[in-house]
Amino acid sequence: MKAHPVTPAKLSDSELDEIRALIEQRSAIFFDASRERFFSTRIREYLEEQGIHTGGELARQIRGSSTEYETLIERLLTQETSFFRYPEVFDALEKKILPEVQERKFWDNPRTLRIWSAGCSTGEEPYSVAITLCEALKFAEAWDIEILATDISRRALRHAERGAYSKRSLENLPAARLETYFTASKHGYQVKPRIRRMISFVQMNLAESVYVGKIDCIFCMNVLMYFSEQRRLSILRRFYDALEPGGYFLLGHSETLSHSPVQFEPVVIGGYRVYRKPGAKPAETRRAAALAEGAQ
Ligand SMILES: C[S@@+](CC[C@H](N)C(=O)[O-])C[C@H]1O[C@@H](n2cnc3c(N)ncnc32)[C@H](O)[C@@H]1O
Repeated sequence: MKAHPVTPAKLSDSELDEIRALIEQRSAIFFDASRERFFSTRIREYLEEQGIHTGGELARQIRGSSTEYETLIERLLTQETSFFRYPEVFDALEKKILPEVQERKFWDNPRTLRIWSAGCSTGEEPYSVAITLCEALKFAEAWDIEILATDISRRALRHAERGAYSKRSLENLPAARLETYFTASKHGYQVKPRIRRMISFVQMNLAESVYVGKIDCIFCMNVLMYFSEQRRLSILRRFYDALEPGGYFLLGHSETLSHSPVQFEPVVIGGYRVYRKPGAKPAETRRAAALAEGAQ
């Protein structure tokens, strides 16, 4: 264990700026003026805990070591989340998005359904998606389903994979859902294995361009707000490219797509604004293509 310094660590404004720039370069997370206090407090706490004497020394360490960088990043992430955080979004998934996909892909073989929770934190969001699919999808066994859940935080992903939650974090879930999808444990509840198996948890930094294949619906809620405008736009373009024509892009409650470089169609469902990628081929065209392929 590292010794605690006797004197408080020295941290100048220029050192803070250097650390901020290093973090933005690697993770895209940008601490603007509105989060200045949070940022400088966390950095100071980190220096003292680790026994690092100056901001310059910390900057050198995170430049030279991925382990130091990852430990620091974990302290700076905001991971607030909850089950069915915005119930309107899950209603939209059930009543509009899934029925559209079912109709459009009825003739596809294999019939795939891929949903991406980008910035999934401790898992509440992808598990809410999985529960919605179980309840809403007709003939679920006829579908090849994958929920891809990604986050930069290894710690959050470990929690997500265990699928264990406190009673308090589940207090708003109706008893019937708790009983169907969770097993009671000593300190709370654990998501049942059949639901956990629907999700692939993968560590992924949204600042890096990683191939994910074609996706029908992307949840990126309360994540893009941490990035600079320029990063936000390039990540948005990647999301757009990953979506199937007709696929949906979902943001958090107070987020909107302003100055977007891509042409999503805004669609309001139950008072909630979601975004659709245009250009879906009608079911009839897909059917004709499937029949033509079968005839060959
Ligand atoms: C506030 S939480 C949102 C969780 C969930 N989407 C929700 O709305 O309830 C933001 C998440 O984004 C993740 N995150 C931040 N920067 C990221 C990056 N560059 N790549 C991937 N995930 C990132 C954080 O680790 C955190 O889990």
